[in-house]
Amino acid sequence: MRPAWICLSQNAHILSLIFCLCHYTQAITIQVSGNTVTAPVQGSALFSVDITCIGTPTVRWTFSSVSRQQWIAAWILGGSANVTQMYKGRVQTHPNGSLSISNLRLQDSGYYTITVTEMSGNSKDMGLVLSVTEVLHEDIQFLVVFVIVLATLAAILMLCMWLLNKLYRFIKAWIQRRCLPEHTETELQPL
Ligand SMILES: *[C@@H]1O[C@H](CO)[C@@H](O)[C@H](O)[C@H]1NC(C)=O
Ligand SMILES: *[C@@H]1O[C@H](CO)[C@@H](O)[C@H](O)[C@H]1NC(C)=O
Repeated sequence: MRPAWICLSQNAHILSLIFCLCHYTQAITIQVSGNTVTAPVQGSALFSVDITCIGTPTVRWTFSSVSRQQWIAAWILGGSANVTQMYKGRVQTHPNGSLSISNLRLQDSGYYTITVTEMSGNSKDMGLVLSVTEVLHEDIQFLVVFVIVLATLAAILMLCMWLLNKLYRFIKAWIQRRCLPEHTETELQPL
């Protein structure tokens, strides 16, 4: 009975040691609900992050696309944020490290990186993709394509009906010509 209890207790100690080690090596975690955010032009996007780390971290957001790279905002969680001139008025920083950008433009599409740095100097990055879409334009394009397809279908249907009508008349005339050979010439005239 006693040795078994000791064994169990030792296992528990080892488990808690492993847990502590894991916790120490993965001190910073950044959780996002999705890696891609899609928003329309003039709309707004929220990059929602859930940060866990030791102490109070510094959060820094940067933007990069094919044509440019730019830091957006940096702040110590709980403190006031430094927002770069270019994004002032468009960017909102949240106490949990999340970032919102409003009045979106097409050029805002790209890669957004959050860097979380602890007091000790440890840091971790996480990247998110923003895709800004031209909703209205796409809707109109869809409508135009839809109308063209409908018009084409209607035209094909009308052509088929016209052809069938012609065929019907032709066959009717042909049968009549076969049955009454003497009336052939006069029957075919109206066609
Ligand atoms: C962070 O804060 C913002 C604003 O209060 C909120 O909308 C968002 O859901 C929060 N994110 C998480 C992961 O809690
Ligand atoms: C914000 O800007 C001030 C002045 O430019 C600077 O002293 C401070 O360190 C900056 N804070 C962060 C978190 O970058």
